[in-house]
Amino acid sequence: METVVSGIRPTGNLHLGNYFGAVRNFIKMQETYNCYFFIADWHSLTTHPKPGSIHQNVRTVLAEYLACGIDPEKATIFVQSDVKEISELYLLLAMNAYLGELERTTSFKDKARQQPNNVNAGLLTYPVLMAADIIIHKANKVPVGKDQEQNLEMARKFAKRFNNMYGEEFFPIPEPFTFDQSGLVKVPGLDGSGKMGKSEGNGIFLCDEDKVIRKKVMKAVSDSGPTVPNQEKPEAIQNLFTLMNIVSTPDTVEHFNGLYNTCEIRYGDMKKQLAEDIIGFIAPIREKINDIYNDTDYLARVAKAGADKARESAAKTLEDVRKLIGFKSFY
Ligand code: TYM
Repeated sequence: METVVSGIRPTGNLHLGNYFGAVRNFIKMQETYNCYFFIADWHSLTTHPKPGSIHQNVRTVLAEYLACGIDPEKATIFVQSDVKEISELYLLLAMNAYLGELERTTSFKDKARQQPNNVNAGLLTYPVLMAADIIIHKANKVPVGKDQEQNLEMARKFAKRFNNMYGEEFFPIPEPFTFDQSGLVKVPGLDGSGKMGKSEGNGIFLCDEDKVIRKKVMKAVSDSGPTVPNQEKPEAIQNLFTLMNIVSTPDTVEHFNGLYNTCEIRYGDMKKQLAEDIIGFIAPIREKINDIYNDTDYLARVAKAGADKARESAAKTLEDVRKLIGFKSFY
């Protein structure tokens, strides 16, 4: 059976981008693959979170994973820092990762620009840790959003490099998972540009109340409307349609598309519909989040069982890796 690995950094609540870029695929994949879904708490340290917030953020993502329908009976759900073997593989892979290629990754360059006073080595070697996360379970498939494409390319490179160095097809070369073969997705934000993230006014979170969702969607960037039939959609408008494509029925999208093409569209109406469709999707998940978040015993059981299973798989890989590299124990 093929193995799937994917993770999310615990930096706050999950948003629609995380859901449709990643978690939706997790839920589908857990039915047929050997899945490992984890919370990448080591990765979150590159931005220096306060000690008091780390545990709470991990707990939030764990509760939200479960509320979305990731099932600990079907998939292995774990916290990255519970599996110390990952850090050993990270160290070993780092010996064959080169400064030039790490400096050239877009995510490193972006982060270095965003936090010029904190360009730490963890940021530089971020794709190495991510590769270790993936290949430690000998993953074949990695469900991620479009923004992780380059990091995944690096993971493929490091896996191939290891195999070449040690003369064996030891690690499978992990592929990005594309839902329905439609390609990795990028869920747009509400601010008219780029992708949905955590920044103010851009994202809709799975824990957002109905009225918050309505308010955010009504404030989404649009424009004064088309003036020429069938004119190309500007980015902010295309983003609204992309969101609608994700949460609404094809009929609804078609309806507003038709109105756009005949220059009769009223964005207020479109946004009202979009908000209701987002609410229809989010409300049932939101209702589960709180209950699960407060069930400390359940969360502890899930995290412990997941850590045990992930450690077992990771330890097995590492034992072979040490042998391939040439380490031998004296005792
Ligand atoms: P992170 O925590 O930034 O995001 C988690 C997942 O959500 C996806 N995502 C999106 N997809 C579509 N549209 C969006 N607007 C959007 N925003 C976020 C991301 O693509 C990702 O799949 N480096 C990873 C975490 C990680 C990981 C791994 C993933 C660490 N190790 C190993 C896979 C395998 C990250 O920072 O994702």
